[in-house]
Amino acid sequence: MRPGLCGGEGGWLVRSVAVTNAKGGVGKSTSAINLGAAMAELGRRVLLIDADPSGNAALGFFARGAPGIGLADALLDGLKLEDVAVSTESPGLDVVPPGDRLSLCSEQMGSAQGLGQGREFRIRRLLKGLTGYDVVVVDTSPVLTPLNVAILYAVSEILIPIDPCVAALAGVRALEDLIRTVSEFRMEFTDAGPLSIAGVLVTRADRTLVSKQIESEVRAYFGPLVYDRVVPISVKFREAYARGVPLIHYDRYCAGADAYREAASAYLGDPRVAAKVENEAEAAGDVAA
Ligand SMILES: Nc1ncnc2c1ncn2[C@@H]1O[C@H](COP(=O)(O)OP(=O)(O)OP(=O)(O)O)[C@@H](O)[C@H]1O
Ligand SMILES: [Mg+2]
Repeated sequence: MRPGLCGGEGGWLVRSVAVTNAKGGVGKSTSAINLGAAMAELGRRVLLIDADPSGNAALGFFARGAPGIGLADALLDGLKLEDVAVSTESPGLDVVPPGDRLSLCSEQMGSAQGLGQGREFRIRRLLKGLTGYDVVVVDTSPVLTPLNVAILYAVSEILIPIDPCVAALAGVRALEDLIRTVSEFRMEFTDAGPLSIAGVLVTRADRTLVSKQIESEVRAYFGPLVYDRVVPISVKFREAYARGVPLIHYDRYCAGADAYREAASAYLGDPRVAAKVENEAEAAGDVAA
């Protein structure tokens, strides 16, 4: 098995992406919900894992409350992700809720008690055993917890949503330091390669000068990794969320829906990533042969 890719049925390799940023309220959960739904619309079988104990991504599909069983039960009791995944009204998209005990898991990840040896690789093992999905999208909490670090050990790549407000890049630099450290550990202790940034999405953009200035700074800093379209600020996001429906279904043709669709297809069709996945699939075939 090659870096960062999980084994799926019939040797199919599952891409996994963590939507992450050390800053809070930048649109991580909204992006996980809508990118996941858009990838499902593009025909992929998507598993959205809500790895934030607050459960905001799961609530985006179950407005009246998500099931209490989820990722925590996979981590604590050895259930498979497939056993705790719940189908949604978005065809092709299942959700793993955080589970009521995810805060506990998050604490145990950072201590010698509870989850036991190798706990920081527990999520990686869960993803490696996963079958039946093409893409895994992981929503993360904004705090740099040991649980989030464990997610960074597990996934193929990360996608960074950035809210173009003052200090947006300061948060990103902190994240980059973490990516560097995690990459070193991944290469030393796992069969994964370095952690790569799949894309950067400017979210909650408005027409102010500050928004435009920060957007250009983000583009200057990350170059072609930044998706062309920005997600504009719109009250439709809150409306959709309150109804437990992804915006891309709630208001199919609004600018925000278009931006998420475009980012999803860029993520899936990125020739650099496609080439990487092909190479890895080939190499995995060589190993299996
Ligand atoms: N493009 C947008 N336009 C307007 N509101 C938005 C947009 N994107 C997200 N929001 C709203 O902004 C708030 C924060 O978004 P979201 O919960 O996705 O951020 P987050 O980064 O996941 O936050 P946290 O760090 O707390 O997990 C939510 O109320 C969400 O509905
Ligand atoms: Mg969130």
